[in-house]
Amino acid sequence: MSEKIQFQSDTYVLKRYPNTNDKSLKAWSNAEIMVLEYCKNKTTNNIHLFNDRFGVWNCLLHKKRPITVCTYASQQKSIEQNIELNELITETVFKTPLDTLNKVDLALIKIPKSLELFELFLKQIHESANEETEVVCGFMLKYFSPSFLKVASVYFDSVTQTKAWRKARLLILKKPKKETPKKDLLNTIRWKGKELKQYYGVFSSGKIDVGTQFFLEDLKILEKEKKVLDLASGNGVIGYEITRLQPDVSLTLVDDFNLAIASSRLNLPKEKTSFICAENLKALKGENFDLVVSNPPFHFEHENNIEITLSLFKEVKDCLKENGRFLVVSNVHLNYRTHLSKLFKKVNVVSMSAKFVIYECY
Ligand SMILES: C[S@@+](CC[C@H](N)C(=O)[O-])C[C@H]1O[C@@H](n2cnc3c(N)ncnc32)[C@H](O)[C@@H]1O
Repeated sequence: MSEKIQFQSDTYVLKRYPNTNDKSLKAWSNAEIMVLEYCKNKTTNNIHLFNDRFGVWNCLLHKKRPITVCTYASQQKSIEQNIELNELITETVFKTPLDTLNKVDLALIKIPKSLELFELFLKQIHESANEETEVVCGFMLKYFSPSFLKVASVYFDSVTQTKAWRKARLLILKKPKKETPKKDLLNTIRWKGKELKQYYGVFSSGKIDVGTQFFLEDLKILEKEKKVLDLASGNGVIGYEITRLQPDVSLTLVDDFNLAIASSRLNLPKEKTSFICAENLKALKGENFDLVVSNPPFHFEHENNIEITLSLFKEVKDCLKENGRFLVVSNVHLNYRTHLSKLFKKVNVVSMSAKFVIYECY
């Protein structure tokens, strides 16, 4: 589904990627529109965009040649798709949250769900800021918490809020602090004698997720399972556990989030692991994995949507070898069994608690 949006006498068409059948999900929110209205007459250069999830800012501000700090493989595709759809002549520049930026005069942030990721963005901006730098953060009121103000005031002396407009509001940050805490935005999690690292914003900060722990409790790898894929790998903890159980395994990790992949690179040996930042398994079709394991996503930012998970399940089928296994953990209430049974010949329940279930599919 595509939608039209008007800005400064031009009309643009925007589509979400991945596509969705849920008509309530849009390619932009009032928070992004409010940021655009606030900035439309600014003549500032060196504009940087953060969390422009589907590309509305990239398209509508393309004449200003902004730089995008991109976090998801799917986000980059969505931006590129919308630039092409609107036949815009612009060369999109993508950076990651771990890159050093040249000079930031104006930064636009759609405040992410993760407070840690917000902090990572602010730290990155602060490192390349000057006295005149302004940061305009848009958010929907229902998702806001005072913790965002607290973090903002660690990096900026002036933190103000605008009035609300259509359930959205802006946070305006000016005057970068002269001194900020010297800390790496990296969490350390103790796990079975090892210290796993993960960048701020990566799934389940501070501890291994309870669903993941449930999955790992009784995980058994068969002797013949040497080629393994960890789908939606996060910090790589499941892959790490597999290499403990089966040291000569060849492992592939896939995650849509570039900071998740960057974190797993810190936790797993490079020689025997392939790290892939992607939102689908198209590049792995026909790879004949012996085993695919996953604690899959079921929400994206504030949206609960299992369409993406179901399309990943379909793709798992195409990269497993004949008689290969797919082990997946999920919340019981999601009832994935119905969906998995349509795709796989055999679906067993390996283990179940009041909250979680592990399915084994052949
Ligand atoms: C529930 S977490 C599991 C992370 C890790 N396996 C663990 O157990 O700690 C789900 C992961 O899916 C990733 N993700 C979201 N959409 C994805 C997609 N389309 N393809 C691959 N990974 C995705 C998220 O970035 C997140 O790291």
